[in-house]
Amino acid sequence: MNTIALVGAQWGDEGKGKIIDILAETADYVVRATGGSNAGHTVVSDGKTYKLHLIPSGILYPDTVNIIGNGVVVDPKVVLEEMDGLAKLGVKFDKLLIDLRAHVVMPYHKEIDELSEKAKGKDAIGTTKRGIGPCYADKSDRIGLRMIDLITPDVFASKLKTVLELKNKIITAVYGGTPLDYKSILDEYSAYAERLEKFCCDTGVILYDAIKANKRIVFEGAQGTLLDLDSGTYPFVTSSHPISGGFCAGAGVGPTAIKECLGIAKSYTTRVGAGPFPTELDDEVGKHLLNVGHEFGTTTGRPRRCGWLDAVILRLAVRINGLTSLAINKLDTLTGLKKLKIATHYVRDGKVVSDFPADIMLLEGCTPVYEEFDGWSEDITNAKAFDDLPKAAQRYIEAVERLAGCRVAMIGIGPDRDKNIVR
Ligand code: GDP
Ligand code: IMO
Ligand code: MG
Repeated sequence: MNTIALVGAQWGDEGKGKIIDILAETADYVVRATGGSNAGHTVVSDGKTYKLHLIPSGILYPDTVNIIGNGVVVDPKVVLEEMDGLAKLGVKFDKLLIDLRAHVVMPYHKEIDELSEKAKGKDAIGTTKRGIGPCYADKSDRIGLRMIDLITPDVFASKLKTVLELKNKIITAVYGGTPLDYKSILDEYSAYAERLEKFCCDTGVILYDAIKANKRIVFEGAQGTLLDLDSGTYPFVTSSHPISGGFCAGAGVGPTAIKECLGIAKSYTTRVGAGPFPTELDDEVGKHLLNVGHEFGTTTGRPRRCGWLDAVILRLAVRINGLTSLAINKLDTLTGLKKLKIATHYVRDGKVVSDFPADIMLLEGCTPVYEEFDGWSEDITNAKAFDDLPKAAQRYIEAVERLAGCRVAMIGIGPDRDKNIVR
């Protein structure tokens, strides 16, 4: 079997897009299985920067089939805008497939996301306001609209009427908002359906045949382990399962279909949105990571919160994703820092905490304990092999392997495709 799953090992934005693009060069299929347009994956190729939200990051290779699986929540407006933008850059979509079972993000989902965040006040999650939570909630509540509904005109007209009546009651009576208009949504979304219909099919069947034919398949993770609905920092998480287990449900494949699992992490930690972050830095080092690492959200433009690398988080990622190796991106961002730190464990009430706590109240009481390393000042962005890196950088990567309990197979030293050391 020739399949690999790529998962974010932290709070998202680990540089998944870059690694997927690299692996996509030799892939027959790239498959997105979870999340929606909350994702923002950057691919830098030949000096051009592509920001992908719903379109899989294998799209730049014309021979690669790119699948949006059943577990993704598809915003038809966003996906079409994204395609129009990419088409102007010469990208083709004749190998793009969207699963018929994928749920559709509707205007009322985005409205409710916005209103619900506002109503939560200081307890807001800091969502991307892309309607993700409300769409997955409808899926679980069994009142969601799927791509198959969207592209079947009479079904869409009838289901939309029923659901919109309910949603307008919630928008007005619960949140004091303005009701949405049925006719204008119907017209707008029917036009999107006409454009999207040709991409829709049962992608699970196609994937099953591809796996049997030993095709090279890359499963593209979105978000990250700590944003997982079960294993993340609940409630400050997203509403899907961005861990490796989520690929099975979200792409319609069995667990035995995934041979390898590569976790992607940065050489430090970032997070956007609210919630606990033990190794967060509010000092000059934090500013260095923000500015040198250009840590501004791909989807919302928000500055990302920055901190030291946290091995407690990496061990959680290794465990629940069954990682077979790690890619550590953005090692170049650490260049110039005199001393580097990695949290090895936490201490709470005088006791050692080695495993990531289940409860954020417990996590908030944890103080990280660090191991300190020498930094380096040499430019590392032209290194071609591990041995080309300064000794201090080599020691840092070896420490990551030791503390995470997982082999580091790739090291990112710049945003471009070729700025990646394979070990
Ligand atoms: P994703 O959501 O995991 O795909 O990551 P994002 O695209 O949101 O954020 C990662 C950012 O880091 C992007 O701007 C990438 O171009 C950039 N990037 C990825 N790998 C590296 C690296 O090794 N070094 C540097 N300097 N930038 C990188
Ligand atoms: P990629 O794929 C970083 C975060 C949001 C918020 C929380 C819930 O680019 O790594 P949501 O809109 O999903 O309901 O927001 O999850 N979040 C991300 N943070 N990278 C992402 O995706 C994210 N997708 C969601 O900031 O804290
Ligand atoms: Mg991102």
